[in-house]
Amino acid sequence: MTSEVALENVWIRFGDFVAARDINITIRAGEFFSFLGPSGCGKTTLLRAVSGFLEPSEGRVLIGGADMAGIGPNKRPTALIFQNLALFPLMSVWENITFALEVRGVGAARRRKRADELLELIALPGQGDKTVGELSGGQRQRVAIARALAAEPEVLLLDEPLSALDLKLRQRMRTELRDIQRRVGITFIYITHDQGEALTMSDNIAVMREGVIEQVGDGNTLYDRPNTAFVASFVGENNLFRGTVGAAERGAVTVETAAGALRARPATGAALAAGDDAFVFIRPESLRFDDAMEMENRIGAHIQRREFEGSFWQVFLDADGAEQPLKLSMVNDDAAAARRPGQRVTLGFAAELAVATRAGPLAAG
Ligand SMILES: Nc1ncnc2c1ncn2[C@@H]1O[C@H](COP(=O)(O)OP(=O)(O)OP(=O)(O)O)[C@@H](O)[C@H]1O
Ligand SMILES: [Mg+2]
Repeated sequence: MTSEVALENVWIRFGDFVAARDINITIRAGEFFSFLGPSGCGKTTLLRAVSGFLEPSEGRVLIGGADMAGIGPNKRPTALIFQNLALFPLMSVWENITFALEVRGVGAARRRKRADELLELIALPGQGDKTVGELSGGQRQRVAIARALAAEPEVLLLDEPLSALDLKLRQRMRTELRDIQRRVGITFIYITHDQGEALTMSDNIAVMREGVIEQVGDGNTLYDRPNTAFVASFVGENNLFRGTVGAAERGAVTVETAAGALRARPATGAALAAGDDAFVFIRPESLRFDDAMEMENRIGAHIQRREFEGSFWQVFLDADGAEQPLKLSMVNDDAAAARRPGQRVTLGFAAELAVATRAGPLAAG
């Protein structure tokens, strides 16, 4: 069984400090949902409110439509996986997996059968008699997931479960986690500050900043249609121009920047009007060398340096009036190879591919 999870007007305060501010969100049953945000933005705090280790200061947590107020962690249909797995190193894999069932008094034969089913599910068939110490990091991760699933939760909560693994393993585990979620079919709520993890695994993602949800959407929407400066700068790479709105129409705004007047699509909900402080963002892959084509936005620049990444070139440019170097990504072809440091170029980009947001906090880094 799987359940919907809803947070309604949830506020969480620690003394005067507000860790979660009026959170409203519905996570559909069977969805892989991620909370994505920098360290300290309140992700773990929200997860604790869902799991029952913490009661919200205000608002409601509903699981499967039922209000969870006053219902303790072990009475909720949830299971939680931490970064620190806390498996029992000397116990066998199958005993680890069914530990909670043993506590409940389930007999050894039934536990063994359940463990074997779960080992199939996590693609470790026949490994039940090993000790945890004999497993690799990625295998341990999967055993931790099996252990959480043994109690048949309706919702699995995962708090940065891959952060202790090395990069290669982390990337492989993304695919595996997603596969396991599809097979079990229950709701996964996943917490991470790694946008790559969130984008590759999730059906939907909530981007958080300082206790607030800035935007909820699938990865594509967050990348192509960010609503705020923070989301535009946190999800993926982006070039930024600061300025003031000159003219605002329905589908496009003109922002006066040090690099000239730039046309862009206004972010949803930004309600930009003439005179407002605004940011224009353009992705590295949407920025073009503009020798032949006439683009709506054109900027003079010098090529500063370039980095070869095999299938791609990353070209860094000093643009007229820009505070920071711009980054342009292009596929590796003859045209790219001809671009050399020191060259004077004209850059262009389509207004449709650029987004204008209200000026606001940016992601660090
Ligand atoms: N029990 C507590 N008492 C006081 N402040 C707390 C408590 N728990 C969390 N906080 C504060 O709430 C904020 C959010 O913490 P939280 O652990 O939810 O962040 P996070 O997004 O999970 O960060 P990270 O990615 O580093 O794990 C932090 O500023 C933290 O110091
Ligand atoms: Mg945390």
